[in-house]
Amino acid sequence: MKAVVIREFGNPDGLEVVDLPVPVPGPGQVRITTEAIGVGGVDAVIRRGTLAGLGLREGHLLGSEVAGTVTAVAEGVDPSWMGRRVWAFTGLSGGYAEQAVASVEDVLPLPDGMTGADAVTLGSSGAVAHFALDRARVAPGETVLVRGAAGSIGITAVQLAARGGAGAVVVTTSSQERGARLRDLGATHVLDRSGEGGPDAPSGFDVVIDVVGGPELPQFLDRLNPNGRYVAVGVVAGQPPADFGMRLIDAFRSSLSFATFSLDTVPGPDRQAVRSSQFAAAAHGDLRTVVHEVLPLDKAALAHREMDAGKVFGRVVLAP
Ligand SMILES: NC(=O)c1ccc[n+]([C@@H]2O[C@H](COP(=O)([O-])OP(=O)(O)OC[C@H]3O[C@@H](n4cnc5c(N)ncnc54)[C@H](OP(=O)(O)O)[C@@H]3O)[C@@H](O)[C@H]2O)c1
Repeated sequence: MKAVVIREFGNPDGLEVVDLPVPVPGPGQVRITTEAIGVGGVDAVIRRGTLAGLGLREGHLLGSEVAGTVTAVAEGVDPSWMGRRVWAFTGLSGGYAEQAVASVEDVLPLPDGMTGADAVTLGSSGAVAHFALDRARVAPGETVLVRGAAGSIGITAVQLAARGGAGAVVVTTSSQERGARLRDLGATHVLDRSGEGGPDAPSGFDVVIDVVGGPELPQFLDRLNPNGRYVAVGVVAGQPPADFGMRLIDAFRSSLSFATFSLDTVPGPDRQAVRSSQFAAAAHGDLRTVVHEVLPLDKAALAHREMDAGKVFGRVVLAP
């Protein structure tokens, strides 16, 4: 089968299209013939080799979420999965391929009318947005900043915060055009990447959902209101300065909270329940997904170049 691996960590030229043996589902797994493969910020972070400690090596098969049809099940797995259209989380590896395997706990049937592209745009990112807002305990009327709102996590977070009764949903993004698209999804105020602009925007935030991280994170910590909660869900701009926690200590009397959030810590059934209800909402048009474009699988390097160049609004999807 055709697949895309990291021949060399670093820029997108290090991605290579190769032929690999079709994977055999192990205990508790199914095999999926893929129709849509999500290309997320996490894939770019892995490709750059900046996620130290994961122990990944050259030859790593990228990709963590796919949609398609179940075409094989391991012994002991309910055979009624065969032939069903599903979304699946494949872990840190295995998605950029014509065939992928996943554990049945990480597989979800697609509702009628939902495209594979929509499913891989919402599957992981929608759940991250939901649980990050949940961890932040957003109360009605509070001011929420979504930093890095133009990606698929941010796009869902904006919609959920708006419908959850936030008093203001502020976003950071790199252009007015993107800002207009985010307003259409529920943002009330648009700031640039540094958090400037939007003359009528609130100066402080009760909650920050941060997809970006990076060197500017401390400036956003400084903008938490008293009792503010900061939830870091991503590091698309790299790691924050090592001493950023001093900002919290310096602002001791403001009772600020900083948390990281990873979906890995949410019990599987809870993740699946949220996904299932988000898929139903998307199929009914109550939750919007933004597919930037669909490219052939062998254009994975182009997809990564477009992500690196900041051209993507929403999610790029690969189709075998
Ligand atoms: N917590 C979890 O469980 C979990 C699960 C999956 C993924 N993740 C993490 O989430 C991140 C990817 O999320 P995503 O796919 O929604 O994001 P994304 O699409 O890669 O990026 C979101 C937005 O951030 C802005 N951005 C990019 N580089 C920036 C920079 N250097 N400085 C400031 N803004 C920048 C861009 O918008 P503008 O150009 O409009 O500013 C971009 O559209 C990764 O870090 C991944 O590891 C976390």
